[in-house]
Amino acid sequence: MRRPVLVGVLLSVLVAGAIIIDAWPRVRRSQTPERFGFGTPATTEDIRQANTDVTPDGRGLPHDSGTVAQGESLYGLRCSGCHGATGTEGPFDHLVGREPGDSFNFGRDPNFLAKRTIGNYWPYATTLYDYVHRAMPFDAPGSLSSNEVYSVVAYLLYRNQIVPGNAVMSDRTLPLVRMPAGDRFVVDNRSGGRTVR
Ligand code: HEC
Repeated sequence: MRRPVLVGVLLSVLVAGAIIIDAWPRVRRSQTPERFGFGTPATTEDIRQANTDVTPDGRGLPHDSGTVAQGESLYGLRCSGCHGATGTEGPFDHLVGREPGDSFNFGRDPNFLAKRTIGNYWPYATTLYDYVHRAMPFDAPGSLSSNEVYSVVAYLLYRNQIVPGNAVMSDRTLPLVRMPAGDRFVVDNRSGGRTVR
């Protein structure tokens, strides 16, 4: 190696070493602080409001009801902008659509994400209540009353040809709705072993 190159390499090693040694205490000091100084502890009431699981058999559903007709107007106001006028246009997830004979094989169809709808994929009607109440509308989750959620769920089930146009969805009727994809899932009770069943 020629001398100037050797001197250059040595200088670089020295400078790099000096930087690391200088920075080391700061790295150690900058560990995550105990508190960031914002937010407030959740109250029992906050937790009660957020703790709203609805199980497949309907436990956790609030005592209320809603109709397809009410749901139709609410859908137009609060949902159609993102899911399309009839639930099939997007731009976001398609909510409506069934294949003839319910033949959509979502386990094998490579386009299943694009084709997945409430009518061909969701195993439980009660989950629809849970999800819409918890997560929709996307821009204001949690803003719908229980009557509004039951109504828009009734409307979406109607649009998917699962309940008739005069259906009333409530804590009593929603768990009785049988979904077309209800028998297309298996209970995953594996412990260890293969990852794909
Ligand atoms: C601002 C846009 C927006 C609005 C308004 C909106 N959604 Fe959504 N919705 C989304 C997005 C984005 C997703 C996908 C979210 C994800 O995958 O995490 C979604 C997903 C869903 C899904 C799940 C679809 C599936 O099969 O996985 C349902 C059901 C749904 N929305 C219902 C509604 C209902 C009912 C309303 C009106 C009360 C509504 N949405 C309003 C954007 C919106």
